[in-house]
Amino acid sequence: CGIVGYIGHRDAYPILIKGLQRLEYRGYDSAGIALFDGENLSLSKTKGKVEDLKNRAETTISTNGKLGLGHTRWATHGVPNDTNSHPHYSNSGDLVIIHNGIIENYGSIKTALAKRGYTFTSDTDTEVLVNLIEEVKKKEGVKLGKAVQIALNQVVGAYAIAVFDRTKPDEIVVAKLGSPLAIGIGENEYFIASDASPFIEFTNNAVYLEDEEMAIVRIGKEIKMRKIKDDAIAYPNILELQLNLEEIEKGGYEHFMLKEIYEQPRAIMDTYRGRLLADQGIIKMAGIDQNLEKFLNANRIIIVACGTSWHAGLVAEYIFEDMARIPVEVEYASEFRYRNPVITDKDVLIAISQSGETADTLAAIKLAKEKGAFVFGVCNVVGSSIARETDAGAYTHAGPEIGVASTKAFTTQITVLTLLAMRLAQEKGTFSQSKFHEHLTELESIPAKVEKTLKSNPLVKEISEIYKDSTNCLYLGRGYNFPVALEGALKLKEISYIHAEGYPAAEMKHGPIALIDEQMPVVVIATKKGHYEKVVSNIQEIKSRKGRIIAIVTEGDKSVKELADHVIEIPETSESLSPLLTTIPLQLLSYHIAVMRGCNVDQPRNLAKSVTVE
Ligand code: G6P
Repeated sequence: CGIVGYIGHRDAYPILIKGLQRLEYRGYDSAGIALFDGENLSLSKTKGKVEDLKNRAETTISTNGKLGLGHTRWATHGVPNDTNSHPHYSNSGDLVIIHNGIIENYGSIKTALAKRGYTFTSDTDTEVLVNLIEEVKKKEGVKLGKAVQIALNQVVGAYAIAVFDRTKPDEIVVAKLGSPLAIGIGENEYFIASDASPFIEFTNNAVYLEDEEMAIVRIGKEIKMRKIKDDAIAYPNILELQLNLEEIEKGGYEHFMLKEIYEQPRAIMDTYRGRLLADQGIIKMAGIDQNLEKFLNANRIIIVACGTSWHAGLVAEYIFEDMARIPVEVEYASEFRYRNPVITDKDVLIAISQSGETADTLAAIKLAKEKGAFVFGVCNVVGSSIARETDAGAYTHAGPEIGVASTKAFTTQITVLTLLAMRLAQEKGTFSQSKFHEHLTELESIPAKVEKTLKSNPLVKEISEIYKDSTNCLYLGRGYNFPVALEGALKLKEISYIHAEGYPAAEMKHGPIALIDEQMPVVVIATKKGHYEKVVSNIQEIKSRKGRIIAIVTEGDKSVKELADHVIEIPETSESLSPLLTTIPLQLLSYHIAVMRGCNVDQPRNLAKSVTVE
């Protein structure tokens, strides 16, 4: 979910709507706003997108008021509908809340409140929380800030909340545990949001709350912060943000996803720029340089991630083992954290996350830290929870990724992990100096090769037209390109809702081959360096069962061309870097198919970009 709030001298409504639109990547099954104009409180909420909310609000409520809260939701408790949307009121109608997260023990609190006469109009945990705050406020006779603090000490779960009291409209109380919350500080005004994008055109000064911190922002006063548990005073760490507005707008592309696909040459370059010093033959990354011993003494590396980031982790497994000869295990964060894993202080855990907020990944990090492992983060969002929770790390410099289907985050993650593996290989001596140089030079050629690969776009679009009505699709690859096959299938599933599976090409004969007939498109990654001959045999097997073959091949390829229905060429590169190229046509394929099917590419149904619930 995404939350946004404003208190100050401007009209809150346009700030909240714009802010919610920027936060829509966090969830978009329903949205709502509450505004207070000094006398009246107006509320509008609806199932659907922020655009639906805007239409409803502008025709049904007064949009006046210099105080307001807004919310865009990804449902956890209660189906997405108008009543379950936020903001929620307390029973008296005085307190208004927005909440991102889950209150796990809401059932028992609800029962206790019901016994005291409280009634509930929605099925949400959030409505329970706002009434708990109201009950504490009344019973203890305390101010809103204190009531929030006492109430939060009774709940189990995760939250980023913002609450105001219409009888005291000069302040908003916010609190955070597990879900992100930023406060933008302007002159005589404050902005509240899940990330800085809603307020970046108004101020560069922001405070990111830490877990178990709360803050009271009051007009004309400085922020007051406290620790929720022990009531200790906390001091705001005011950061100056670098984000710029253009970076988070579409820049002429029809969709964020397409823009982000096309940004990859620059994003990859930005990710290695300043780190890869080809002329000196070195890689410089502060996060590694300062912790080299940890990596060199590690018995193994454990990589944890979810979704697309997990696929980048799988590519990294090949890279690390091949180059640096360090054993690697790659785990879904959600499985790792719950299976009592064996972790020691000789392990290094690498957590990969675009958003830096994924709840399961964050929990896996905490577990590994408790057991003494050294934890390294690979995140895209600067200052995110994972970036702060890890012992050290390296940012991908992809820039904001808004499209829910991850594209440039994936290729920049692979870039960072390649740098990391190469640095360790050089240090361990598992790479000769000449091999190291060869790789450095090849990596530097990648942005131009991605650029060239993007030229296949019109061809990919033609192919998409032919297969857009398919109901299934199989993706095959070997070695470094096996995870790319998984990622290609995930992209198609996510945004076009076509069932797709990724498989190691050689495993096809152990099952998926049974699915192949003349209706089945099979995307095969068959580049020159990756067990080419073996993949060609796999293609023959598909051909003899009348499958339709879309092959990704190296420029100038002849053998596959004779067998496949369609070939998409990519420039030649080393096997380990080939995922950075082979993944591009697969991103474009899913993009075009989804557009042709009329799907909402940037905001596919049921998904969210940043999953802060487990
Ligand atoms: C969600 C997104 C995916 C993403 C995954 C992990 O499912 O829709 O695109 O790969 O979360 O997110 P992270 O931010 O941790 O990389």
